[in-house]
Amino acid sequence: MLDKVKELIGEVAAFNAKTKEDIETFRIKFLSKKGLLNDLFTEFKNVAPAERKEFGQALNTLKNAAQDKVNLFKDALENTTEQKGSYGDLTRPSEPIELGSRHPISIVRNKIIDVFSRIGFTVSEGPEIEDDWHNFTALNLPAYHPARDMQDTFFIETNPDILLRTHTSSVQVRYMENHKPPIRTISPGRVFRNEDISARSHCIFHQVEGLYIDTDVSFADLKQTLLYFTKEMFGKSKIRLRPSYFPFTEPSAEVDIYWGLETETDYKITKGTGWLEIMGCGMVDPNVLKNASIDPDVYTGYAFGMGIERIAMLLYQIPDIRMFYENDVRFLEQFKSVI
Ligand code: DAH
Repeated sequence: MLDKVKELIGEVAAFNAKTKEDIETFRIKFLSKKGLLNDLFTEFKNVAPAERKEFGQALNTLKNAAQDKVNLFKDALENTTEQKGSYGDLTRPSEPIELGSRHPISIVRNKIIDVFSRIGFTVSEGPEIEDDWHNFTALNLPAYHPARDMQDTFFIETNPDILLRTHTSSVQVRYMENHKPPIRTISPGRVFRNEDISARSHCIFHQVEGLYIDTDVSFADLKQTLLYFTKEMFGKSKIRLRPSYFPFTEPSAEVDIYWGLETETDYKITKGTGWLEIMGCGMVDPNVLKNASIDPDVYTGYAFGMGIERIAMLLYQIPDIRMFYENDVRFLEQFKSVI
């Protein structure tokens, strides 16, 4: 009897299953109700008492080995069939791929560039860390000029000549120093002002500067260009130019667009007037041309400057400027754009 059990242990050890049927046949042979193990356990009572211990142990070994084999091959075969046989539903739609989104500041900047490049403006850039000359003096803002206070400036402590540019008008000067008229360029970039941070203003923001210099450039050209811009950018075709003051332009104006008074938000953002200020502009002051070695008797030009955040807030109805810099994905992922 014992020999028979040992022989069966050997058979179990050598068993190898290739299919699920092989395992089932093996299971029925050894482990089912009518299987060999049940028979052997029934015969246990006929075994001589002296041999019972050894026989019982051998029987248990056989039973465990058979059960282990069944489990082993079942697992193995189930896994391989899944890998080899089942591809799932090939017609199922694939996982949606999340498209990235652009920052609203980039979208608006790119739109502005697009609108102006269609009428021949190039894009130029300048440094964010500027010197006094390019940010102030060359723009007709000599030292101690009261208008310097219009723009609270971050200076480099050890060198009052070096500062973080307060506007992109500094790029005008650099561009004129390096290019001869005719000049048509816009300069988008980051600017810095020592201001308290609130829902409406920030110490870092973005501007786009525009500059057009040629012979016979007039205020009418400026107005027409701005009208074209507001139509393309906002789909609004009514603007007005309010007399204003900037040291670098003469005459100077502030540009308002007629936004309308259709919704409650329109009332709120236009303070009930329907008009919205969107930028500053003017004819380049002859002193500024002179400072960049351009002869004001031959050339005239216009310039304008606008804040990108302000335009983005209007276009997307963003209530708080701080949202642009918090990098909250829930905010950012709303801006899908092709531009
Ligand atoms: N530099 C002005 C500012 O930051 C904006 C500006 C106004 C730019 C009039 C211009 C201009 O070129 O002509 O407030």
